[in-house]
Amino acid sequence: MIIGILAKNDTAKCIGAEELKLLLTGLDERSERELYTAAAETAKKAYGNRVFARGLIEFTNYCVNDCLYCGLRRSNRRVGRYRLTADEILERCAEGYSKGFRTFVLQGGDDRFYDDRDIINIIKSIKNKYPDCALTLSIGERGRDTYKSFFVAGADRYLLRHETADPGHYAALHPAGMRLESRMQALSDLKEIGFQTGAGFMVGSPYQTVDNIVGDLLFLRDFKPHMVGIGPFLPKSGTPFGVFPGGSVRLTLICVALTRLLIPNALIPATTALASADGEGRKMGILAGANVVMPNLTPPGQREKYAIYDNKAITGGESSENINRLAEELRSIGYELDFSRGDWKDRGAPPHTPLGASPHGLIFYE
Ligand code: 5AD
Repeated sequence: MIIGILAKNDTAKCIGAEELKLLLTGLDERSERELYTAAAETAKKAYGNRVFARGLIEFTNYCVNDCLYCGLRRSNRRVGRYRLTADEILERCAEGYSKGFRTFVLQGGDDRFYDDRDIINIIKSIKNKYPDCALTLSIGERGRDTYKSFFVAGADRYLLRHETADPGHYAALHPAGMRLESRMQALSDLKEIGFQTGAGFMVGSPYQTVDNIVGDLLFLRDFKPHMVGIGPFLPKSGTPFGVFPGGSVRLTLICVALTRLLIPNALIPATTALASADGEGRKMGILAGANVVMPNLTPPGQREKYAIYDNKAITGGESSENINRLAEELRSIGYELDFSRGDWKDRGAPPHTPLGASPHGLIFYE
């Protein structure tokens, strides 16, 4: 069967589970290129040829959780653990600010060493010093009231990947005690509180089926997060999943493109995992509809300890020191690195319909 995709303006056509499955499994090369073009054009309609820069501060690699895929899992004794103090975090913000960043992403393992008060104080000091900057948190599951207090303290955005929308698959990726239901509850709490909220998943994680991915895309279509992080699963030695093969870059790009069509205004990073899996991954991600990059602002001495998976890219375009090279790389494919806050933009978005309206109609033919 040949599946063709035709980008046709103003003819949004429903795509559901069946169509997504075909797109994930049966695209020929030409259709795949058309999909990427349609996705990149959709991103340009929403945000122009801009790629937003976020300064990523990995402030702790301690984690209370024991996710089977992750190198920072609690039971991984081979990790040299580190934590940044509030002052060290502020120092990284200062460095980032001077380079032009106007979004800081505080990312960490789920580390309760920093209690709610600590996080609130960090949020307040950053927002106090840099009121013109957006602050994104990516620190795992905490309760609704806590989220609310982070929001009140000034945090703008929250990243919490759903990892998989299938409860059985979620259970296969996580230790007993972690439940998809609480992850989903957290995501809807975050959105309701007013955070620009990010979800996302890994492509090719162990035991993942095509139907799982279809489920992930349908979840994204319906939940409509403001941000979506998608990267290939990459094995980490010393973890239970260290012997599994990495996810496919191509399938990851297809998922990025489909997400762009399902949520035209989403902020979608070309993830570090994508850049780690393929030297051209970052560019390919942008050309498949991504519009965010997250250069690393972690203290260079600690960076290699934030080893979620093996061979993580921590140099080149992934590092804030090389921001000019990254800008150049993006320019070479027709994009401008944009240092503004780069908030989610609702204006100009086509009305959301259950199909996750794309300005392009996806037309299937055999
Ligand atoms: N490969 C790819 N991505 C991973 N993540 C965690 N471990 C891995 C891995 N081995 C992703 C998860 C998590 C995010 C911080 O990184 O999706 O939410």
